[in-house]
Amino acid sequence: MRLLLFTAVLFSTHPVNAQSASPEEVRRILSEHCWHCHGADAEQRQGGLRLDQLAAALQGGDSGKPAIIPGDHSGSELIRRLTSTDPDLMMPPPDAAKRPAAADIELLRSWIADGAAWDEHWAFTRPQKQALPVPEFTSPVDSFVAARLQQHGLQFSPEASPHELCRRLYLDLIGLPPTPQQLRDFDENGFDVTVDMLLKHPAFGQKWARQWLDLARYSDTNGFEKDLKREQWIWRDWVIDAINQDLPWNQFIISQIAGDLLPEATQSERIATGFLRNSMINEEGAIIPEEFRMAEMFDRLDCIGKSVLGLTTQCAQCHTHKYDPLTHTEYYGMFAFLNNTYEAQSWVYTKEQEKKQ
Ligand code: HEC
Ligand code: HEC
Repeated sequence: MRLLLFTAVLFSTHPVNAQSASPEEVRRILSEHCWHCHGADAEQRQGGLRLDQLAAALQGGDSGKPAIIPGDHSGSELIRRLTSTDPDLMMPPPDAAKRPAAADIELLRSWIADGAAWDEHWAFTRPQKQALPVPEFTSPVDSFVAARLQQHGLQFSPEASPHELCRRLYLDLIGLPPTPQQLRDFDENGFDVTVDMLLKHPAFGQKWARQWLDLARYSDTNGFEKDLKREQWIWRDWVIDAINQDLPWNQFIISQIAGDLLPEATQSERIATGFLRNSMINEEGAIIPEEFRMAEMFDRLDCIGKSVLGLTTQCAQCHTHKYDPLTHTEYYGMFAFLNNTYEAQSWVYTKEQEKKQ
């Protein structure tokens, strides 16, 4: 858990290549102008051609001609169709509401000429440990920051004074400033000892739980209409505790989404699934309960998508669409995992109450 929070920062640094169009730019253009008819949606797909997967684009559609020949833009059917003025050939077809800008066509051309480098959306890519871009810096953070500064011709600021450094450590790790006495302790104990001490501090979990609480849409009220009170704080405390215990990420996630399904689940493991129960509750008199139960289930799946998968899912609730490679059928396949239980309220007992029960 602790490890993940830090590594996520390191891996998000992407090398920037100024010359060639990036796979992201290519995806933006193809998604906007082509994927509606050449994307994930099999029912909408035209000409037997998919342009959202490189292997399919290399193979081509009904004509059997590859849409993309890496390194050969003039031989690539994709460029031929994009630049054609023949209404029978031009892509997008003549009646399309919008056409790619000349600059975007140029980007696609140079991208193919440079070998058509492709990668998956980051949400589908396993994080890989990167070599340090500036090896002189032994701290990985400094190394990645230095690389980016160099790209922009910038220098590091002068090193901070010990007390500034101490204040930053405190704010970064536990979200609280040091007292005058703690500054003096820092002078005596130094950086490493202070870091170890702060990692063990109870406020470490409070500070670092916040991001997860946001993703999990935590609140102690219903979030709807009269916004009546409810008590979710016991789940919040579970998260803080898990971070302070350094619970491994896989165990953390399993407990969050399925703690109640673990063999002989404990109360604590059931509390963990408060993650899903954070969805809004509508207690208005005139609601149709089943309708709102479904609204809660959609919300739960949306939350798992964004927080665990790094993927927006909620559009596929109604139809397969060109922006996410998640089909309508797959959506309800995942949905089925959630849609087999429902608790409008669940109860938590103290040790003594548990004994009585
Ligand atoms: C509104 C739907 C639509 C859009 C949008 C669209 N196409 Fe097409 N595309 C078609 C249809 C229909 C065919 C099959 C008829 C044909 O080959 O002209 C086709 C065929 C193709 C083919 C030939 C496939 C083969 O091997 O037979 C290529 C290449 C192609 N499109 C590229 C593109 C590109 C690139 C874009 C985006 C800039 C695009 N298309 C956007 C409808 C569309
Ligand atoms: C509550 C149901 C619902 C949700 C959620 C939904 N859509 Fe739609 N969407 C529809 C319907 C219905 C249509 C067809 C509208 C029409 O034909 O006039 C449509 C049409 C579309 C179209 C046009 C498709 C076409 O064939 O021209 C796109 C693109 C689209 N939606 C994308 C999205 C995206 C992206 C999201 C998520 C941000 C999303 N939709 C969420 C119901 C939904």
